[in-house]
Amino acid sequence: METVQCIKERRSVRKFTDEKVPQEVVKEIVELASYAPSWKNTQTIRYMLVEDRAIIDKIAAEGVMDFAFNQKTLSRCGQLMLILQKNGICGYEKDGSFSTSKEENWEMFDAGIATQTFCLAAHDKGVGTVILGIFDDKKVADIVGIPEGQTVAALVPMGYPAFAPDMPARKSVDDILSFK
Ligand SMILES: Cc1cc2nc3c(=O)[nH]c(=O)nc-3n(C[C@H](O)[C@H](O)[C@H](O)COP(=O)(O)O)c2cc1C
Repeated sequence: METVQCIKERRSVRKFTDEKVPQEVVKEIVELASYAPSWKNTQTIRYMLVEDRAIIDKIAAEGVMDFAFNQKTLSRCGQLMLILQKNGICGYEKDGSFSTSKEENWEMFDAGIATQTFCLAAHDKGVGTVILGIFDDKKVADIVGIPEGQTVAALVPMGYPAFAPDMPARKSVDDILSFK
């Protein structure tokens, strides 16, 4: 798929068919996401695929702050990718001090770049995704059991789209670009 087409046509998908994305395809998507840039090439983002229905249902029931919209999306997906970040590396000096005034925020910056790269790579392969930001990261970490020293940065339900969603309106270039 052409880059421009991929960027323009990727949509947040919240309803999926029952067909599972084969793990081989998931691996290809993660391999593509590994090309995302990162702080000093530290590559601190990790991916954990949850396919266990009971775990996804528990996250829906207890891990998304009772936000019904996200509960519905989780009930409609058979696969959930957790975007994990290794803490204390991205944006930090070797002595543990912050590298810049943005302090630990570079961790989420890298997670965001990696997540969008993942979503674009998925779209290229016909796989739909949606980034969920409304969740309780500690509860999700407890429910799933994630490695020590990592945080859940985002939830990404994924699967083959049940339909192609419409594009929400975008601001114009004149609204978002300025020159000095
Ligand atoms: C950081 C972030 C958090 C988001 N959180 C949610 C969420 O909790 N639930 C949801 O349904 N969509 C969520 N979205 C998806 C946005 O609503 C969506 O990207 C936006 O409406 C534009 O639609 P599009 O992705 O189809 O272009 C999130 C997107 C981002 C980037």
